[in-house]
Amino acid sequence: MFFLTTAIDYTNGSPHIGHAYEKVLADVITRYRRLRGDEAFFLTGVDQHGQKVQQTAEKEGIAPEEFVKRTTLKFSNLWKKLDVSYDGWAETIDERHKACVRLILSTLKDQGQLYKKSHNGHYSVRQEQFLGDRDRDESGNFGPEWGEVIEIEEENWYFKLSDHTDWLKAYLEGTADVIVPAFRKSELLNALEKNIGTDLCISRPKERLRWGIEFPFDENYVTYVWFDALINYISFAGYHAAPDSGLPDFEKLWSGRPVHIIGKDILIPAHGIYWLCMLHAMGFSDAQMPQLLVHGFWNSRGGDKMSKSTGNIVDPNELADKFGVEAVRYYLVRDIVIGKDSVFDMDRLVMLFNTELANEFGNLCNRALNMSQRFTAGVLTNSGALHEEDIAVQNSLTEATNAYQTAMDDHDVSKGLEALNRHVSVCNRYAERMKPWELNKTSENKERVATILYHFAESVAHIAVLISPVLPGVTAKLADQLNLPELTNFKLADLHWGLLPDGHAIDKPSPVFPRIVIEDQA
Ligand code: MSP
Repeated sequence: MFFLTTAIDYTNGSPHIGHAYEKVLADVITRYRRLRGDEAFFLTGVDQHGQKVQQTAEKEGIAPEEFVKRTTLKFSNLWKKLDVSYDGWAETIDERHKACVRLILSTLKDQGQLYKKSHNGHYSVRQEQFLGDRDRDESGNFGPEWGEVIEIEEENWYFKLSDHTDWLKAYLEGTADVIVPAFRKSELLNALEKNIGTDLCISRPKERLRWGIEFPFDENYVTYVWFDALINYISFAGYHAAPDSGLPDFEKLWSGRPVHIIGKDILIPAHGIYWLCMLHAMGFSDAQMPQLLVHGFWNSRGGDKMSKSTGNIVDPNELADKFGVEAVRYYLVRDIVIGKDSVFDMDRLVMLFNTELANEFGNLCNRALNMSQRFTAGVLTNSGALHEEDIAVQNSLTEATNAYQTAMDDHDVSKGLEALNRHVSVCNRYAERMKPWELNKTSENKERVATILYHFAESVAHIAVLISPVLPGVTAKLADQLNLPELTNFKLADLHWGLLPDGHAIDKPSPVFPRIVIEDQA
């Protein structure tokens, strides 16, 4: 069982392209796991508590409950629009989640892992946490990443993080593939050195923050938003859930090593330190620790971070309306290398769709489907004598499929798509050399023409299956046009030369990738 999950915030109120990338990536990875024949469960959702939500709701003059209901819809509607198909939906205001957080707090307290103490120190309003000297920059100041920093004295509940950091260090050093890509592990180990000996403040007094999960044993406090939000990964997986909760069977879901897909900004300290130590404190074994797949950021031109304050947020809704869902999904996983940052560029979105999909793959689909209708009345023949060039096409498909699988196994979707594109180009070059449209002018070439067209059609059928994690809508359209509905359920293991049987009749073709035409704005 393979299980992956991500969670999001809505401080900004609306999802941006970074959120969309992460969900599309998680969706592609889940769909690919199923294509491989694995069982998969994709959990995502929203992180709804915390000071920032309380403040924004106050500014708008509405209750936080109402505010989060409204913003949550913006996310779930966008996922529907972008064909992001999840199995579990996490909302941290859900009573089942709250019950799980309270149970964990009570258990940790009974085990002596929580204590209360008074602390006088600097507090970052933006990051909602106390700061220590380790958080100062070289000149001794708290940098702009912390936003407004105030000095406060407060009594709070603490989690004995320091009891688990020796274990974490040994675990990280001794286990391969805990963090993907691997270079992030050294960043995490460096950060851990600075954290050793410090505990984590996990409560906020209600007089300062009401919008959180109340402590089960101290009604004057609510739970720190990260402690609450991180628990979504297990609460919505059914951890200690009532049998009639409607949540999944935890033992089944967490039987393997789950994968959490997160951005690079929330590895340290939230996931890489707090979350792994929290799980360890709850008794999770090393083998049960999640793998963290840490993706990079989409930045604006000039390398700026996308943020509401700089006004350079790209609205995924608008993009999908303007260019179509397929173009957006394709661009988001095609123009970034997993783990690295990329620059969002609308011209490249259009260019990649028009060249790789409309021109190249679209052309091959057209050759397979239209020419078959015109030259062989839509009937495919897989019994003609094979020429050297035909064998080369078949070999190219085998190579492309293998390269695709290797890349996708490493979550390298862009490289996986490149492998498919290579085969598409091989087929188009083969078409130009073989010229079936010329051959078709002489009736004695009938069998030869049919064999060439079969190589186009069979290649399209294979690519339709292989591209399905990224463009599920395209797979469905091609399955229809090829008159092979079972294509949408095919697994990698079902792929062999001859998916389209000899004598198979295809359906009416219609363009799958209409070119994006940008109106001249000059
Ligand atoms: N609420 C936390 C997550 C809690 S997990 C228990 C949070 N929310 S967020 O809305 O700020 O970010 C959600 C996800 O989007 C994070 O994984 C974050 O790294 C990712 N991204 C935010 N901006 C991004 C880009 N510009 N590009 C790519 N991903 C980005 O963090």
